[in-house]
Amino acid sequence: MNIIRNKVNHYTHWHFNKFILNEINQKDEVLEVGSGFGEYTFEIAKNTKSLTSIEIDKYKYNFQIEFRNMFEYENITIINKDFNKIDLNKKFDVILFCQSIGFFSNNTIKNSITNLLKKDGKVIILDLINNNIFNLNRNIMKKRRKGKNLIYYALKDAQYFLIKNIPDDKRDEFSILLNKYYKILKKLKYDDSFYDVYKYEIKNSNDIKYFESFFKIKKHIYFSNIFLIPLILISRYKSLYFISKLDKLFKIKFLSFKYVKILYRLL
Ligand SMILES: C[S@@+](CC[C@H](N)C(=O)[O-])C[C@H]1O[C@@H](n2cnc3c(N)ncnc32)[C@H](O)[C@@H]1O
Repeated sequence: MNIIRNKVNHYTHWHFNKFILNEINQKDEVLEVGSGFGEYTFEIAKNTKSLTSIEIDKYKYNFQIEFRNMFEYENITIINKDFNKIDLNKKFDVILFCQSIGFFSNNTIKNSITNLLKKDGKVIILDLINNNIFNLNRNIMKKRRKGKNLIYYALKDAQYFLIKNIPDDKRDEFSILLNKYYKILKKLKYDDSFYDVYKYEIKNSNDIKYFESFFKIKKHIYFSNIFLIPLILISRYKSLYFISKLDKLFKIKFLSFKYVKILYRLL
C-alpha cells in the first residue's frame, strides 16, 4: 500500500481543524462524540490535556485503539459505546461533535450538556450545512459503490488525515495497520442494518437553535464553497485546492457547505 501525502485533502481538513484547535488549550479535557477513525481525534489530543473518544462502531473503535497504541498517544481514552446511553462520571471543558451531531436527538444533546459539560465549558460542532448537496453526494456514492460498505471508503478518506499525526519514520507501520483494516473492512458484507449506524440527518436550523439556546455566547464560522462543487468533476484535487483558498477569503453563510459552531458560557 502506497500512502500518498495528499496535500489538498490535508489543506481542507486542516483548514477546518484550525478553527477547532484555536478554541482548545493544553489544559482542556475534551470529549469527542462519534469520532470515526480518529480523523480529528489524534491531532486534537496532541494539543490538549486529555481526550475521551466515543465511537459506537466496533471496527472504527478497534482501529483507533491500535492507532493510539502504535503511535503512543497516552492521553486518549477510547470508548466503544452508544452515546445515547452513555454514563460517564466526569465533566469536560469541551464537547466536540465533528460531523456527528445529526445522529443524536435533542434529548441526548440536552443531557450531555447537563451531565457532561463543565459550567464554563464549550460545545464545538463541525458539520455540513446543506442537506441537498449532502444527499446528492451520498446517492451518487451509493450508486458508484453499490454492494460495497461505506466504512471501507471512510478509512480510505481518513488515511490522509491520520498520516499527519505520525512521524515520517513510522509510515511503514502505519501502512501495515491500514492494510490490515482494508482487508477486514473489504470482507464486510453489504447489509441494510449495517447502515443503520450511519443514518445521519443534518440538523435543520430549528434543531440547532434548540441547543444553541442553552448558551450565552455563540460563534459561527461558515465555509463557503458550494458554488465550486461542479469543479470537482474536472479535477477533484485542483478544485479542492481552490475551494479552500476561496473559503479563506469568503466565509459567506448562504453559500456555505460546512460550518464550525462554538457555543460557550451556559445560561
Ligand atoms: C460521519 S462520521 C464522522 C467521523 C469523524 N468524526 C469525522 O468527522 O470524520 C459519524 C460517526 O459517529 C458515529 N456514531 C453514530 N451514532 C453514534 C452513537 N449513537 N454513539 C457513538 N457514536 C456514534 C458513527 O459510527 C460515525 O463514526
